Amino acid sequence: MPDRSVFLLLFIFLLVILPVPSEAVKDYLFKKCDQSGFCHRNRHFANEILEQGDSYQPRYSIDLATLQIDDQSGTVDGILLKQLNDGTYVDLSLKIAVITDHSLRLTVDEIDRDVRVGGNVTTPVNKVRYNEASTWAFDGKDPKQLKFTHELQSDSLILHYGDYNAQIQLYPFKISLSYKGAEQLIVNERSLLNVEHYRTKVSEDDANSNDVAPEESTFGSYSDSFKDSKGDTLPLGPESVALDFGFVGYNHVYGIPEHADSLSLKDTTDGEPYRLFNVDIFEYPVQDRYQMYGSIPFMVAVKPGSSAGIFWVNSADTYVDIKKNGEEDMVDERKIIIENSSRSSSSSVQTHWMSENGVLDVILMVKDTPAEISRAYGSLTGYVSLPNMFSIGYHQSRWNYNDEKDVLDVAGNFDSHMIPCDAIWLDIEYAEGKKYFTWNKDAFPNPERMEAKLNETGKKLVAIIDPHLKTGYSVSDGVVKERIAIRNADSKDAYKGHSWPGESVWIDTLNPRAQLFWNKQFANGSQLMGYSTNLHIWNDMNEPSIFNGPETSAPKDLLHYGNWEHRSVHNLFGLTYHEATYNSLIERNSHIRPFILTRSFFAGSQRTCAMWTGDNMARWEYLRESIRMCLTMNVAGFPFAGADVGGFFHNPDMELLVRWYQTGIWYPFFRAHSHIDSRRREPFLLDEPYQDYIKEALLLRYKLLPVLYTQFYKASQTGLPIMKPIFYDSPEDVGSYSIDDEFFIGDLLVRPVMEENQTRVSVYLPDEKRYYSFFNLSTSLQGKGEHDDVEAELDQIPLYLREGSILPTKQRYRRSTKLMTYDPYTLYVVIDSDGHAGGDLYIDDGESFDYRDNEDHLYLSLSVEKGKTISSKVIKGDSAKPFVASLSRTKVESIVLVGAKNVGSTVTVHQGGKSWEAEVLREAPGIVVIRNPKMSINSAWTVEI
Ligand code: NOJ
Repeated sequence: MPDRSVFLLLFIFLLVILPVPSEAVKDYLFKKCDQSGFCHRNRHFANEILEQGDSYQPRYSIDLATLQIDDQSGTVDGILLKQLNDGTYVDLSLKIAVITDHSLRLTVDEIDRDVRVGGNVTTPVNKVRYNEASTWAFDGKDPKQLKFTHELQSDSLILHYGDYNAQIQLYPFKISLSYKGAEQLIVNERSLLNVEHYRTKVSEDDANSNDVAPEESTFGSYSDSFKDSKGDTLPLGPESVALDFGFVGYNHVYGIPEHADSLSLKDTTDGEPYRLFNVDIFEYPVQDRYQMYGSIPFMVAVKPGSSAGIFWVNSADTYVDIKKNGEEDMVDERKIIIENSSRSSSSSVQTHWMSENGVLDVILMVKDTPAEISRAYGSLTGYVSLPNMFSIGYHQSRWNYNDEKDVLDVAGNFDSHMIPCDAIWLDIEYAEGKKYFTWNKDAFPNPERMEAKLNETGKKLVAIIDPHLKTGYSVSDGVVKERIAIRNADSKDAYKGHSWPGESVWIDTLNPRAQLFWNKQFANGSQLMGYSTNLHIWNDMNEPSIFNGPETSAPKDLLHYGNWEHRSVHNLFGLTYHEATYNSLIERNSHIRPFILTRSFFAGSQRTCAMWTGDNMARWEYLRESIRMCLTMNVAGFPFAGADVGGFFHNPDMELLVRWYQTGIWYPFFRAHSHIDSRRREPFLLDEPYQDYIKEALLLRYKLLPVLYTQFYKASQTGLPIMKPIFYDSPEDVGSYSIDDEFFIGDLLVRPVMEENQTRVSVYLPDEKRYYSFFNLSTSLQGKGEHDDVEAELDQIPLYLREGSILPTKQRYRRSTKLMTYDPYTLYVVIDSDGHAGGDLYIDDGESFDYRDNEDHLYLSLSVEKGKTISSKVIKGDSAKPFVASLSRTKVESIVLVGAKNVGSTVTVHQGGKSWEAEVLREAPGIVVIRNPKMSINSAWTVEI
């Protein structure tokens, strides 16, 4: 017998010689912080300063003599001085304003930058710092400014407004923001403010340069040494902005998507910062801080008693370092928070934000709860718009359905297997030679006919339109001719790069003329759209993804409308593109709510589209990651989020696929999609029992659509997440701060099973409430801020209804949401120990803008009082409006009542001045069902129990 070491050697030998299937991100394509000029320089700067400690002499101060304080308009203007080596200063403009929701906005810019750049730069590039990120991010208007009172002293200025004090220290420049008497946020706490003012290359190379401080580095200031971006002309040299913010007493920060990481963000001290830079990241890794397809530079912190937010309004390449000074240990967390909050001089989470260029524009928010932070952020950038109802149903996609027959067969198979489905998707192969706005007529000879057929069962078609336009056909020729393409750095010609169709140009949707051109492509009678009203659009590859471009995207020195460098607008290009599509669809038919799915996004994208998390893999870790990513999107104000169900790359086994559907039904955007090389896996193709398990999950989604749609309505009014991290509803419960494998939708607590071979899972039950198993209302668990182990066989989804809630559902199978419009409701009512329960329900026609333009909608408050009456009150809605009036035919067909005492065999129903009896059935101890109480949903009613 050979000894074991021989086997070991053989094993090692095989490991070395056998090719390992490549499945990792091609990280050599992407810059690390130390390969990126501005990130390298700012981290270097930070390290130098932090090493010097108290002996460091900060360079930034406010010039007291220049301060103009206007209490009435809520603004402070002045000059921020940046001291150079020789003791002279660069003047920067400083503006501090108290804005909507008592947020504090700080803006810093270089004064007369274009004059100083002058003739040094002869290209047409715009020489001022980019200052329009807020125009794109904000919801169409400048935030209101609020009054304050102030105290000015020789070394500081204090602003008082509402429950807030902003103490602005003049030298060194620093702001401490307090709320209700407690310090919350410190701006420039560690003196990492850095505004790289314009300087010429000559002075940079000079060792005695006055422009470069000893603590600064000049790495990558005028040239880029990274292999794929060596061609970057960097015409304006170094121009980064950076600043640090300390969160006082906080241990958890969230947000800044898009990253495939945990919900609670990690300390980055020993690794890469989180990067915000929109790229097409092939085979992205999970639990990582890599840049991804979209960016929202908004961070939220939570602790008992308050919540804080930082919105860094910048659309350039951005890195964020996080340093956590409190320990992460959950057991001791309560203690740590108390300790931290008693220390006022330094913060417990320190963050360092670095952007490649643009003005410094940041908004600070502090409120009592994370929900209020969501509202404040949404009041600036807009709330998610109320979606077309079909778009929160189930979407079936793959790359690609081949032809008209294929599309109609897939749709028909859903129907014949009685599995609901709302949309079939067409990926890039439907267009002739991937020339968007055309059809491959051999495969799709009559798109109108196909769409009409889908429409028979209320199904929609969603087709892809990417921003790369193949050179040499009418659409791209038009873009070039009208000079609305993204241009080369010299501004002369349209930039040409490679994407799916081969050589392409990119429409520059920052240009208002591009909008007019885009409208024409989508107009009625154009090739793509025909006259159909059930075609919606998928905007992919809008980072923009460019196969032969640096970091798979556009060279940073390309020019956009206004001669802004791509460098300045990179992270918001995707938003301009999907907004242009949205506007075109509205232009074409202002009656129907357009649905658009985007891959790339920026702050504000939530107003016009849904997003998904791109090219994931059919692996368990990607299933788990999908929930963390969707939760993060919800925290960052963009709740209409989902992930490819089943995984984009590879083929899931049946267990993974079942679990993925059971998880995917909770994504606000719910679509199965897969790669062109993947095997077909539409639910109707699967063997039993898996098909049945998936069908049950899908039916559950459809039953709960009234809940989901109501949550969308609330999100559209208040910015509240739709998939809520546990801490949103229990922000005092520090034990919930790191939980990212479960969440609430309304009052439903969901803990999807996302581990292989699992038949039991651990569920965290937050507050003091009881949680009733949705599938067996006779069993419940007591919430106490601890985990409980529960059964979770492959056909089970751990799902709980919180006591004191009322849940509206629709129970009938239909082929699509459209066909459910007038279906009756079943209400689940779980009465708490005080005899109360409450809930709400929003209803409108689900597809038009009449809810907005004609106020043709209904918002109901449902409640149980003292265990004696169940009632519905109309909070908003007018029964004379056509759709609301038509709802008189929609009845409540059943009420499942948990926790009601002494209910007789009948109950009395009152509605519209009439009364009648309804029968009561006893289901199980403590559970009764009121059968067919028959009240119409569109006016107030009461049931006496
Ligand atoms: C990349 C997208 O992420 C993927 O979903 C799509 O199928 C391919 N592009 C082809 O269009």
